[in-house]
Amino acid sequence: MSGKEYLDLTAGWAVASIGYSHPRVSNKIREQYDTLSFTSQLSAPEQTMVSLAQKLIEITPGDFPKKVWFGHSGSDANDCIAKLVPLEKRRSRMISFMGSYHGQTMGSLSLSGHPALSSFIGSGNVVKTPYPNPYRPPFGETDRLTDQVIEYLEKEVFKTICPPEDTAGIIIEGIQSDGGLIVPPEDFLPRLEEICRRYDINLIFDEVKVGLGRTGKWFSFDHSRVVPDAVVLGKSLGGGLPISSVVARKEILDVGTGIHMFTTSGNPVSCAASLENIQIIEDESLIEKAKKNGNYFKSLLNELQKKYECIGDIRGKGLAIGVELVAEREAKIPAAEKTAAICYRCYELGLLCFYVGIHNNVIEITPPLTITKQEIDLAISILDQAFLDLEKKNINMDLVKEYAGW
Ligand SMILES: Cc1ncc(COP(=O)(O)O)c(C=O)c1O
Repeated sequence: MSGKEYLDLTAGWAVASIGYSHPRVSNKIREQYDTLSFTSQLSAPEQTMVSLAQKLIEITPGDFPKKVWFGHSGSDANDCIAKLVPLEKRRSRMISFMGSYHGQTMGSLSLSGHPALSSFIGSGNVVKTPYPNPYRPPFGETDRLTDQVIEYLEKEVFKTICPPEDTAGIIIEGIQSDGGLIVPPEDFLPRLEEICRRYDINLIFDEVKVGLGRTGKWFSFDHSRVVPDAVVLGKSLGGGLPISSVVARKEILDVGTGIHMFTTSGNPVSCAASLENIQIIEDESLIEKAKKNGNYFKSLLNELQKKYECIGDIRGKGLAIGVELVAEREAKIPAAEKTAAICYRCYELGLLCFYVGIHNNVIEITPPLTITKQEIDLAISILDQAFLDLEKKNINMDLVKEYAGW
């Protein structure tokens, strides 16, 4: 331990939404462990787990009976989707999006369309369709982005390899996170929902990274008033402890017994931490703060963009922000090496940020939702210094090479 302090724009890949070692969560963990350290929900539901399930159902939209499944990670929760959704609909195919990241286990990586997961087999029945990226529109036009992506789905995907009557579900990240913090156009999610309803296809939102308040609402899809059939949660759900969940239409989770169960999932200690974590999000108005401070952060980043030609795009909702770097603004050539250099220099200067994106050129800004305006000012001044150092070739690129990469 060097004793050096860092300002954290990562929240540990979007886990520490309420910050680190929150005393209220710490107390709840100890209390729960002392009262009942463990019982397996495989044999009997335990009250803390039931209370958490009730709370998740309360905050998830949908005027229909819902149930909750618990796991340990975003990956095992998306495996739940990969197994149960096709079974429920009695249809064999799924659709996901190019660039999506749903996890590292076989089911979740099969659903993924991210280059980091493209070396593994197992996704023959999952078709990946283009994600509506306003900065890099897949069909060339930003003005007609939603129409073109939806038309491609209906006129190509449905008419060729993935007929709607064989399609059990479409899984989407409301903001595509590891794909590059991409925010779809306003009208896209409602149009996707309309397609799902028309063809009786389940609509599933993977909210593992941006859910639970980060975008300035409980869920990213709340911004467009879309109602999913299933919502996948993980990362920040446990306030730092491992826990994930699927909140879904009852029929999906009732499709079978013993087909996606783990002995320690839904354990009372993780559930107690999670319940307190959600209560803290409410008590400390962290959703409102995410919205307000996210707008403030973006406004300062926009000022930075005026100074540095390599900042191609700034986008995001609340405190899920992406800064895309390019070799030159007009041509939008991805500047992966520069992105790694900025993150590395920031680290040297005491600021933690990571980079994502299918071109490895997007700085991901997902700080704890507790971040203050003063901390945002400090983050901007360090970023400013890092961009200046990049311009002046003051960054040791040999060190950057060692650090860079997935
Ligand atoms: C959107 C999304 N889904 C699922 C996962 C997988 O979660 P985990 O690493 O907890 O398995 C991630 C991880 O980055 C993610 O960003």
